[in-house]
Amino acid sequence: MFGSEESGNVVWGSMEGSAAHEFPSTIFAYVKGQVRIHRSGKTEGGVGLIRLNRPKALNALCDDLFKDLVHAGQALDSDDDIGCLVLTGSTKAFAAGADISEMKDRTFDHAYKTNMFAWWGQFTKLSKPVIAAVNGFCLGGGCEVAMMCDIVIAGEKARFGQPEINLGVIPGGGGTQRLIRAIGKSKAMYMCLTGDMMGAEDMERAGLVAKIFPPDDLVDEAVKMGTKIASKGRISVMMCKEAINVSQEVSLEEGLRFERRMFHALFATADQKEGMEAFLEKREPNFTHK
Ligand code: CAA
Repeated sequence: MFGSEESGNVVWGSMEGSAAHEFPSTIFAYVKGQVRIHRSGKTEGGVGLIRLNRPKALNALCDDLFKDLVHAGQALDSDDDIGCLVLTGSTKAFAAGADISEMKDRTFDHAYKTNMFAWWGQFTKLSKPVIAAVNGFCLGGGCEVAMMCDIVIAGEKARFGQPEINLGVIPGGGGTQRLIRAIGKSKAMYMCLTGDMMGAEDMERAGLVAKIFPPDDLVDEAVKMGTKIASKGRISVMMCKEAINVSQEVSLEEGLRFERRMFHALFATADQKEGMEAFLEKREPNFTHK
């Protein structure tokens, strides 16, 4: 049984894991250009789906759309029924970047004083894993949002790019910093300096994309992957995400220390006892997220 709410440009929903493969069609039947919230109301193990829904502008990330995205992400992140989030767009566009018409007349003093786009980073503060399911154009701010997610999977025809250089600017939502970590300096320079797009296969080879699927199967596959993640012990999943993300910020020595401390802490959880007991008893674990 699903409840629903709506407002804005993002569609978001959640469903309990066992019916995951029905998720896209069930949820998307409700899409009409607004935010919609669907809750399973059941126990843990659900996947929360957010779909950017501003089709006429190819999901260009205007301020309102991004606010809706952050709001949806935070609500699903704090929902106990949800163990993993999926973010997707349409078949034509994950997102074609920040909204150029909204930005065009902005001035330096406005951009600097408001620290333009700094608040986009709120989306990286979610504690549960987020899978970006990318079909179509994934450009500029769109590619930056995909890189804010924890796993990127793509449809065969997805196109990634940082074309800001064509507009007389540079990436402003993390493109120069996250792309180099994802695909290395030469490819990051190539993409940011030429504005050329790269296809899903190239991005998989380069390391930004984890897996590629036929476009029509992509969201189903993302939900399946999310369901698998949501079936693990919640605390170990959250700590694992935290530890991997810490590696981007600190020295190897600090990162290893942080990882070890997280590992030690997990011995205080019921899920550690259950996981190891289940292995030795040759059965599936029954995690309680405690
Ligand atoms: N901002 C605002 N509107 C956009 C947009 C964007 N980033 N991208 C597409 N649109 C709008 C178009 O203006 C067009 O609107 P109208 O129908 O009202 O004219 C509509 O979406 C459809 O777009 P196109 O007609 O251009 O579609 P296409 O299939 O011919 O081309 C495209 C698709 C190659 C993605 C092309 O739209 C494009 O190049 N978009 C801009 C991509 C871009 O430069 N992104 C970077 C933005 S800056 C940024 O993101 C800064 C940052 O780092 C935070």
